[in-house]
Amino acid sequence: MSIAERAKELRAEIEKHDLQYYVLDAPLVPDAEYDRLFRELQAIEAGHPELVGPDSPTQRVGAAPLPEFLPVAHRTPMLSLNNAFSPAEVEAFDRRVRDGLEAGDEVEYSAEPKFDGLAVSLVYEEGIFVRGATRGDGNTGEDVTPNLRTVGNLPLRLQGGSSPHVLEVRGEVLMLRGDFDRLNARQRESGEKEFVNPRNAAAGSLRQLDSRVTARRSLRFFAYGVGAFDGAGLPATDHTHSALLDRLIAWGLPVAAERRRVRGLAGLLAYYAEIGDKRAALPYDIDGVVYKVNDLAAQEQLGHVSRAPRFAIAHKFPAEEAVTELLTIDIQVGRTGALTPVARLAPVFVGGVTVTNATLHNEDEVRRKNIHIGDTVVVRRAGDVIPEVVRVVPEKRPILAPEFVMPKSCPVCGSHVVRGDDEAVARCSGGLVCPAQRRQALLHFASRRAMDIEGLGDKLVEQLVDGELVRTPADLYRLRLTAVSNLERMAEKSAGNLLAAIEKSKRTTLARFIYALGIRNVGETTAKDLARHFGSLDRLLAADEARLLQVNDVGPVVAQSLRQFFGEPHNLDVVEQLRAAGVVWGEGEAAPTATSAIVGKTFVLTGTLPSLTRDAAKALIEAGGGKVTGSVSKKTDFVVVGAEAGSKLEKAQELGVAVIDEEQLRELLNKKGALH
Ligand code: IVH
Repeated sequence: MSIAERAKELRAEIEKHDLQYYVLDAPLVPDAEYDRLFRELQAIEAGHPELVGPDSPTQRVGAAPLPEFLPVAHRTPMLSLNNAFSPAEVEAFDRRVRDGLEAGDEVEYSAEPKFDGLAVSLVYEEGIFVRGATRGDGNTGEDVTPNLRTVGNLPLRLQGGSSPHVLEVRGEVLMLRGDFDRLNARQRESGEKEFVNPRNAAAGSLRQLDSRVTARRSLRFFAYGVGAFDGAGLPATDHTHSALLDRLIAWGLPVAAERRRVRGLAGLLAYYAEIGDKRAALPYDIDGVVYKVNDLAAQEQLGHVSRAPRFAIAHKFPAEEAVTELLTIDIQVGRTGALTPVARLAPVFVGGVTVTNATLHNEDEVRRKNIHIGDTVVVRRAGDVIPEVVRVVPEKRPILAPEFVMPKSCPVCGSHVVRGDDEAVARCSGGLVCPAQRRQALLHFASRRAMDIEGLGDKLVEQLVDGELVRTPADLYRLRLTAVSNLERMAEKSAGNLLAAIEKSKRTTLARFIYALGIRNVGETTAKDLARHFGSLDRLLAADEARLLQVNDVGPVVAQSLRQFFGEPHNLDVVEQLRAAGVVWGEGEAAPTATSAIVGKTFVLTGTLPSLTRDAAKALIEAGGGKVTGSVSKKTDFVVVGAEAGSKLEKAQELGVAVIDEEQLRELLNKKGALH
């Protein structure tokens, strides 16, 4: 095979893959295989420049920068569309069409999404893409051919046998939302300005004098019509717009899958509703739908008024963005204690509803968007998504527009507001007392793995909180039978059962109790580790950060959460109330059982133990009722030895004191089960 033949073969192969990937959404080969073919073709062309044609896929990577864009006169003007904003306006359009055509019956329309991108015109000569231009003023646009060549789903050569001498395709260039998000992430990382929306990003990318920049921006093209046409190939039998689009698809041009043929006003409005529902799920932005009389002869008959056709109309969706004034910023406290700044807005109609609030997510977001109180802001409400402030209009900032500061104390309960070092969210630390967090805290407290209060579920907690019978977990232990039986759907018997379950929960373990407090980042396992390590609640409460870090699996984040929780007087109060109410657990110092293997025994530690630190081992022994001393004597019961034990081991052997290792110590400790 000659080099020229191989190049031709590669081009055909790559074109096929482009079509499969971009247009049919069904790639045949992995990216690596595609890249291999592409590089082989590039290598051939580098050695044989005479083989490079304008339709070679290698031309998609961009070319040397242009000094300027040249003007292109469109063969037929690129018109715009009239808009309809309500069903009544669509009805009027349909009536005008029927009157104009003297059609007694329903008219058939081609209904399509209205892409929110940029109109372009593509010229194919003998099937080869030779020139592409922007809309410009409708008569003259700018030649952006090298840039359009980089658009992945735009065919550089038409598929199928017969191509017309000249075909001018009209359509829209846009950026998919996914590509837009990726582009902005890149811009952010490299410290460059982010694009406001996919439309602006597409416009900025298409109008680059250096088409290599465009090539990196992942633009897409969608065809919606034909401008100039010269030659065979258009459907002869079925002279309709929809058949024309079918023909474009056969040539390998991308056309929106969402287009439909509909009949009459009812068909138009049903289509509008259907696409409205799908809008948020589409991969690209649309700002409405377009209705076109489907019959091409009828289109001709209807003609144009000034710059817009009589046979088509754009039915716009309500704008998703609007401008309004940010009056103030309030703080909302969520069920988990998260503090969210919320913008209070001068009422504005956006996305089909009147909006007065918009989320600002968190403090960093407010800084990043540079939002001040009193700013004029752009608000966005897309679909059913919560409205948000997209950006400010800096030119409209009043002279005295204060910055937002996160409050230091919770606006609901007054507890301290804390924020972890690498966390975006500020939280109220009044977990047990904050009304905003009450329900969640109580449900967690009562849950099976915590205090295990049977029957205290969602509905009941809601009633207890709303009826102000319970504010904190400690209040549960003060509930009276009469009060509980007055609740909805609570017979005396079930009220009795609940109180019995609450009473029963008083006898618990330290680990469960710690877990039940709902301290952030303290799950069941950590609670167990803490209980085992400290053996008593008071020792846990007294532990400083260094001590906390000695506990198995406790890192700086958990240690900080613990310090914050127990540093909050309200929380300590509730803990005390719970103890006072009679919640008890077996504690090392308080309740070692009489049968415990180590109660009253004296231990000496020496050498490095395999997993326990000196402090941890001491805490465990003490929690079990034993004592730890520094030197070996006849009174010593056990010497616990680890690696590199020194003179203490010798002394023990001398005196005949029992010598054990860490594992044996653990066995001794486990024998009694009074630890947790
Ligand atoms: S047809 C003669 N179909 O909307 C009618 N236009 O105001 C020519 N647009 O700039 C337009 N999606 O780029 C048509 N499916 C669609 C469209 C569409 C978006 C744009 C078009 C033009 C504007 C018209």
